[in-house]
This record gives sequence, structure tokens and C-alpha cells, in this order.
Amino acid sequence: MSIIRGQDIDEAARWLLAGRLVAFPTETVYGLGANAADEQAIRAVFAAKGRPLDHPVIVHVLDQHACSAWAQPVSAQAEQLMQAFWPGPLTLVLPRHPGVSPLITAGQDTVALRCPAHPVARQLLQRFAHLCGPQAGVIAPSANRFGQVSPTQADHVHEEFNELDDIAMYVLEGGAATVGIESTIVDLSQTGQPARILRPGHVTARQIEAVLGTRVRAFDQGGSEDSPRVSGSLKAHYAPRTPLLLFDRQMLEHKLGQLPDGRIAVVGCGPLLRGAKMPARIHYEYLPADEKKYAARLYDTVRRLDRAGFDALWFEQPPQDESWMAVNDRLHRAAAAFD
Ligand code: TXA
Ligand code: MG
Repeated sequence: MSIIRGQDIDEAARWLLAGRLVAFPTETVYGLGANAADEQAIRAVFAAKGRPLDHPVIVHVLDQHACSAWAQPVSAQAEQLMQAFWPGPLTLVLPRHPGVSPLITAGQDTVALRCPAHPVARQLLQRFAHLCGPQAGVIAPSANRFGQVSPTQADHVHEEFNELDDIAMYVLEGGAATVGIESTIVDLSQTGQPARILRPGHVTARQIEAVLGTRVRAFDQGGSEDSPRVSGSLKAHYAPRTPLLLFDRQMLEHKLGQLPDGRIAVVGCGPLLRGAKMPARIHYEYLPADEKKYAARLYDTVRRLDRAGFDALWFEQPPQDESWMAVNDRLHRAAAAFD
């Protein structure tokens, strides 16, 4: 694998135009990008990730005006949401434009569109649009191998791909992602149906309802028969290699009294109650008891602990409130791999 890391956005845009892969920062997670008009490049992204071809990818655009090249029709509701949340961590699923490659949509009649807010992502899209037109699109799944934890830093991207042979990739560096978990996905493709959350994220159902002035179908953890294919909706996804288990605080305190052998890392949601005993052989740390700050640090924490050779990672279950839905979704998926 040859990975080139840098901050040369012009160079990265030229790589895209030449059909090569560019990993780039967004405010949610790093994406592995390719020209959305180049099927060979799209295939290379699937190959690098080890992602099955039946999982559709998101097209990233510079702005709302680029959407008409990818989606048709773009409904008034879609426009309202774009105006309210773009650029930002919201992906819209719309009826696809007939010209969109079925590789992008996994043969479905819908396409997912997102306009990222990260300044490096925006500059990349700008330069790329300058090279190939204002409606340029960049497909970008999260820049991790299929099923693994999404990267929130350039180092994570490097970790994911540096052992692969035969693929060249330019990794644009842009610091740590501030949102830290993948975008909210909302399905607006079914005319006459309420908008539906397919993947919870930083933008919440309440916020979307406030803009649309109508009810939104909440995210359904189990998925349903008619739900479009969302790879992040596989039960076990976003998983580290070390077993990750979730316990509520009471159970966690009980477990700490009856420790199994081995090295265990415990991650609290806010500090454990004062006075709770922490056995010396346990590595203990905690993430902030604020869902946005927690989300921003979650994946880096999981990756760091995953590398550290523990036998298990024990996470304290965060509150079950609606505001924690996106974080809980990712934690449950990570834990589901070890059910
Ligand atoms: O925050 C994000 O969305 C990041 C950054 C890089 O933009 N991207 C990301 O991509 O998370 P990925 O491929 O890891 O997850 C995109 C999800 C997948 O679960 C995919 O199945 C779903 O979007 N998706 C893509 N097109 C879809 C469609 N037409 N209908 C329903 N789901 C779709
Ligand atoms: Mg992903």
C-alpha cells in the first residue's frame, strides 16, 4: 500500500480527477473519496474497504445546487433540510437521477447526498468542482475497512489501510473530526411518506421535525422489511477487535466486585460515583457525560483501547435519553459483535 499524507488540496483534487483515492476529513468522520462519475475509481473504494457491492455509498457535493445532477426530483422538503442543515452532518436519501451509477446506489432507485462542513472537505469539493464542473460529486464511505470503527483522525485512516498492498491513496490531513460519529441519514425518497431516520446522528429527529413542521419516523433499531440497505444498519458494525461489553452503572459496579482474570479497560460515562472502588489492575477512564463531547471522543477511545491489548473493554451504558440515541446506537452495534 502506498499512502501519501499531506495537506495539498489541489493535489488531492487532481488525484480524484485521475481516478485515484483520496481520504479526507469531514466533521463527522474521515471519508474515503473517489470521483462519483468514475466507476473504476468507485470500485477501487469498495475493494480497498473490503465492502460488499450491495452497500450503497454517499455522494458528497459542494452545495445544494449540485444535487440536481444526482437526485430527481429534489423535493421541497429536501430543500428545506438542505437550507437548514447544509453544510453539515446530515445525509438525505432521495430518488436517484437516472445518470447515477448503480454502483453508487447498489442498484436501488435512491441516492444518498451529503454536503460536509469541514473546511478541508469543502475546499476539496471546491477545487474538484473547479476541475470538473459545479455538479461534481465525490463518493465517500467512512475511511475504514468494512465493519470496523470509523476513523476520526488521519492516523486512524493510516492504521486501517497501511497493511494493504496494491492501492495508492492520498490522505488529506485535517485534524480530529469534531462531531466524531457518522452523519444522520434521513430518507425522503418515498413521496407521501413521512421522512424517516435511517441512521441517528448529531442532527436529531426533533431538529428535523422542527424544520419540516411534520412528524418524522424515528430510527428503528431493528430495521424493517422495507428499509433500504444501510450498511451501518447491520447489527454488528463499528466493532473493535477486543470484546466490547456494555453495562449499566449498577451492573458495572457489581462486575467490578467480581472481576474475571485478565486485563480490562473500563470506560465510564462521566466519572464513577465518588467512593466507588476501582481495583488496581483495572484501567479506568471516562468520557464526558455530555453526548456531543462523548461522541467526539468515542471512536478514538475505542481505537486506542483496542490497540492496547486488553482482554475486554467494559463501557458504562450512557443515559437512554433521545439525545444519546446516536451514541447508544454505535455502542450497541459495537457490543453486538460480541453477543
Ligand atoms: O458522516 C458520514 O456520513 C460519513 C462521511 C465520510 O461523510 N460517511 C459514511 O459513509 O458514514 P458510510 O458509507 O460509511 O455510511 C453510509 C451509509 C451506509 O450505511 C449506506 O448503506 C447508507 O449510508 N446509504 C448510502 N446510500 C443509501 C441509499 N440510497 N439508501 C439508504 N442508505 C444509503
Ligand atoms: Mg462506514
